[in-house]
Amino acid sequence: MKTGLIGAMREEILLLEHDIENLKIVEHGVRKFYEGTIGGKEVVMCLSGWGKVAAASTATSLINLFGVDQIVFIGLAGSLKAHLEIGDIVVADKLVQHDIDLSRLDGFHGVEPPFYKKFRFPVRKSAQRRALEAVTQFGYNLHDKKYPEISSDYHPKVYIGAIGTGDQFVASAKGKEKITAHHPDLLCTEMEGAAIAQVAADYSIPCSVIRIISDNADEEAHDSFAQFLFRDISKISVEIARLMFV
Ligand code: ADE
Repeated sequence: MKTGLIGAMREEILLLEHDIENLKIVEHGVRKFYEGTIGGKEVVMCLSGWGKVAAASTATSLINLFGVDQIVFIGLAGSLKAHLEIGDIVVADKLVQHDIDLSRLDGFHGVEPPFYKKFRFPVRKSAQRRALEAVTQFGYNLHDKKYPEISSDYHPKVYIGAIGTGDQFVASAKGKEKITAHHPDLLCTEMEGAAIAQVAADYSIPCSVIRIISDNADEEAHDSFAQFLFRDISKISVEIARLMFV
């Protein structure tokens, strides 16, 4: 199995470069693809950039140029639920493009891919399980104090559920309400996951998305996101990514 590993920002994945054996860096267009193995398992890592188009472009390149047969995405998200706290981890069981509105096309029936009506993409059980195993192992390692560089106060809760994707950084109570009014099941919001899920669905390959809560998608979201991004995320997301390969 060859895994395509995507992160939207350098801090979210690129430090994993040091764990890639037989590393070969290949450039296509604006992106660099880090090809090699981790623990004997084939990987191609790539930085997507922000948003659905960037994510879809990256996923398509990984599939068509590198022949990956599964995709893993790791990064940050804003919480849409009061019980989700900063630092908690969400494993997607479905991914939803919350900014698409086809309600005026309700009369259309029987549409098939490449047309989708709901833009809700379930994550295969096997892909959920693998992601959950990595996150659970990360929790055990935290408990066993294996990461001196991560605060000993960090005890994230892990949730499995629906993740929403839209081309916007959500940073207001009003913005959150707009999303949750249409999609009350979403646990958190981000900018890439469901686009990757759509590409994976187009090619019938599994994809897993793991998100760490960096902010509450409210008026303080910018500060909280920036603080989390530059202080903690590299250690957390890179370690979870590494554990996907053990
Ligand atoms: N990623 C992290 N926080 C986010 C937010 N509030 N909105 C969209 N994407 C995010």
